[in-house]
Amino acid sequence: MAELNLILLGPPGAGKGTQAEQLRTEFELAHIATGDILRQAVAEQTELGELAASYMDAGNLVPDEVIIGVLLEAVGRPNARDGFLLDGFPRTIPQAEALGSELEKLGRQLTAVLMIEVSDEEIVTRISGRRVNPASGRVYHVDFDPPKVDGVDDVDGTELVQREDDQPETVRNRLDVYHEQTAPLADYYDQLGLLQRFDGSAAPSEVFNRIRATIATLKLEDTI
Ligand code: AP5
Repeated sequence: MAELNLILLGPPGAGKGTQAEQLRTEFELAHIATGDILRQAVAEQTELGELAASYMDAGNLVPDEVIIGVLLEAVGRPNARDGFLLDGFPRTIPQAEALGSELEKLGRQLTAVLMIEVSDEEIVTRISGRRVNPASGRVYHVDFDPPKVDGVDDVDGTELVQREDDQPETVRNRLDVYHEQTAPLADYYDQLGLLQRFDGSAAPSEVFNRIRATIATLKLEDTI
């Protein structure tokens, strides 16, 4: 298998960022996280950030015409040439179609779409306890994955914060948006033979082991 080009799919709080952290290290992939790109743009008050902020604060999707160009540019960068892990993109059918056309133009292919499934009730519990390092995007949970010292990142000591869009009302809207606009991507990628489903209610290390085993099988099949 020349390159590993993966998509992480799943509702808000399913554990995409948590798994991405381990996957990118294990498989040396460029991790392209739309949420992190957008939050950085908002913090730096760039044109993209100013366009995106009101959508993100309300828990709505940033319009396709804003996000697609940003993401296709990231996929074409030299650091993504040997493989990428998309986290938070695509989130609509037009985004998936745009990605497919771009990869075809570049003579590249998706390896798999890793879908992490978690119930809505579990998501509300997870998101309310999430704490993040605003600089690196590293994620913790006050009960399920606490830092060694309360409120402080294990790696660089940065103070952990709660995300603006993790308020209960906003989370409910993000879930509605997910079911309406993003969940149909499961069928879309299933029909392309790319979808792999994972039970995201297991412990993070268990979810990771299952994803890693699936990727190992895909690599093996590719060499036969
Ligand atoms: P984004 O940042 O992508 O948010 P999201 O998809 O809603 O996902 P989250 O980051 O909330 O959750 P996650 O699945 O990464 O879970 P995590 O690992 O943190 O997007 C934010 C906004 O940007 C969107 O609402 C939209 O406005 C905009 N946007 C982004 N992409 C866009 C696009 N393509 N088009 C248009 N707009 C876009 O885990 C959650 C918590 O659970 C953590 O505390 C973690 O420690 C814990 N946890 C993780 N795994 C487990 C486990 N197995 N068991 C127990 N706890 C766990």
